[in-house]
Amino acid sequence: MSVMFRPTILRFDSIDSTNLEAIRHAKAGAPEGLCVVAREQTRGRGRLDRAWESPKDAGLYLSAILRPQIAIEQWALITLMAALAVGDALLKSCGLRVDIKWPNDIFVHNRKLGGILAEAIETDRGPAAIVGIGINLRDAAFPAVIMKRAISVESATGTVPDAELLLEKLTEAIAGRYDLLSSQDGREHTIREWCASSSYAFDRRVRVSGISDTFEGVTRGLESDGALRVEIPDGRVRIVRAGDVTALRAMDK
Ligand code: BTN
Repeated sequence: MSVMFRPTILRFDSIDSTNLEAIRHAKAGAPEGLCVVAREQTRGRGRLDRAWESPKDAGLYLSAILRPQIAIEQWALITLMAALAVGDALLKSCGLRVDIKWPNDIFVHNRKLGGILAEAIETDRGPAAIVGIGINLRDAAFPAVIMKRAISVESATGTVPDAELLLEKLTEAIAGRYDLLSSQDGREHTIREWCASSSYAFDRRVRVSGISDTFEGVTRGLESDGALRVEIPDGRVRIVRAGDVTALRAMDK
């Protein structure tokens, strides 16, 4: 199946949230491929109802509208493909190799460099997915209190990144990865590549803070819909579709 993600970029100096703006456009009928980019966000949003600090020119803030043809149960794969696209773009534009923490946190040296907030919405033209991507370009992108847990492209590479080049490579990578995801075998391919790009896919001791409980176990790859398999101490495998995953060191209890 061939899809048409032809990126068109809509730029703002300042906006509440690029995801909210993309939702407004999608509801007004905007086509797949529309990307909202802002230099700053006054109400940047993260996963699990958290805020995403978005000072001017300190990060890349982008939201893309997709109108996926794949079954809605498979939409989690869109966030996995978006994380892969971020990895492609950072490698091509900044020479930076990243890790992916399930489902789609972008990590470098065990610190968070970026995140993805994907939202599914209903519109008159059918369901749409808004894929919001935030990448810390400079340390100013995050508050000092999370300095130990966050990192920027500038501190990871030692150079101020070329934000325009990163944006170009990112929209290119989303187009290519999304096209692939929609093709025959695209889902298996995306899962395989995600597993190859993430140190969290297999044999990683983790703590999972789910919606109803928190538990620990060892990762055992992904289900075909992108859910994380975690083996718990009694040998059963729990399937995680939502929640927060934290790596545990071998000696952690
Ligand atoms: C996370 O919590 O890890 C996801 C963060 C996603 C932030 C991006 S910045 C661009 C887009 N607009 C938003 O309001 N959020 C996303």
